[in-house]
Amino acid sequence: MRKKVTVIGAGNVGATLAHRLVDKQLADVVLIDILDGIPQGKGLDLLEAGPIEGYDVRINGTNDYADTANSDIVVMTAGFPRKPGMSRDDLLKANYDVVKAAVTQAVKVSPNSILIVVTNPLDAMVQTALRVSGFPKNRVIGMAGVLDSARYRTFIAEALNVSVHDVEGMVLGGHGDTMVPVPSYTTIAGVPIAQLMPREQLDKIIDRTRKGGAEIVNLLKTGSAYYAPSSAVVQMIDAIFNDRKKILPCAAYLEGEYGIKGLFAGVPVKLGARGIEEIVQIKLTAEEQAALEKSAAAVKELVAVIGV
Ligand code: APR
Repeated sequence: MRKKVTVIGAGNVGATLAHRLVDKQLADVVLIDILDGIPQGKGLDLLEAGPIEGYDVRINGTNDYADTANSDIVVMTAGFPRKPGMSRDDLLKANYDVVKAAVTQAVKVSPNSILIVVTNPLDAMVQTALRVSGFPKNRVIGMAGVLDSARYRTFIAEALNVSVHDVEGMVLGGHGDTMVPVPSYTTIAGVPIAQLMPREQLDKIIDRTRKGGAEIVNLLKTGSAYYAPSSAVVQMIDAIFNDRKKILPCAAYLEGEYGIKGLFAGVPVKLGARGIEEIVQIKLTAEEQAALEKSAAAVKELVAVIGV
């Protein structure tokens, strides 16, 4: 049977994600939004590209959660994007209400789904989704690390003038200014980055990575990034549907791993058919571990504000 993905929010991230999913024929897609006509129009437009592009998956836009029933994966992109000068945290309260309402309705009709949350501030929103859904922790995942790592890898590849395929690197911690790129596991075709780039240059890249979302917001002026974020979600969905057991940095609910308890944070996880199948515990340098704990403390403050 074909897989079914519901994308909540038919805005920039949601619609681009729907586009990428049908292009890759990963699943039938339902696009849902509170705006009347937008998900229907974008859904129909994407459907009509099928005969040209050669995909024959179904795509349907709706305002009715009944149409989302029995989804295998529900991706939460609904919410308000950042405006210039606004931090992800400013979005906290507004998007809390959106995530709570949408997740409540979605899980009622798709009780066995896996939830992937994209809405910012990411770590607090994915924690909201965990509490509201009552799902086990392996089925509630935050998308941040794959995106932040892609930005980090892009900047490194550019600086060294090498293929992005050769650059491996992880960004852990919260999806905010305190995120933690991990130099000790950054390699170029297997070669540790320390051998190829002076630390000062890498520090500049780390700083740019941390501000990667804001860089796009400042350029766009009317919204936030959506091409790379939607690609990141597709990679996670592909890992789950194809049971790839792929190690990816994702926001996962931690219960003592990395010294963090009762909180989501970006860590390497094994993604497969059951969602997060394992939290992979790697050895960090003292500096990286301290940065991870600092990042978790920032997430904890946010979570306390909304009481999840
Ligand atoms: N239920 C469903 N859809 C909603 C709801 C809701 N309760 N509230 C808002 N929406 C919809 C809006 O109508 C809009 O179509 O969510 C969509 C958001 O789209 P954009 O404004 O284009 O925002 P986008 O760039 O897609 O970002 C969405 O992802 O990366 C994060 O920070 C970003 O939190 C933001 C989210």
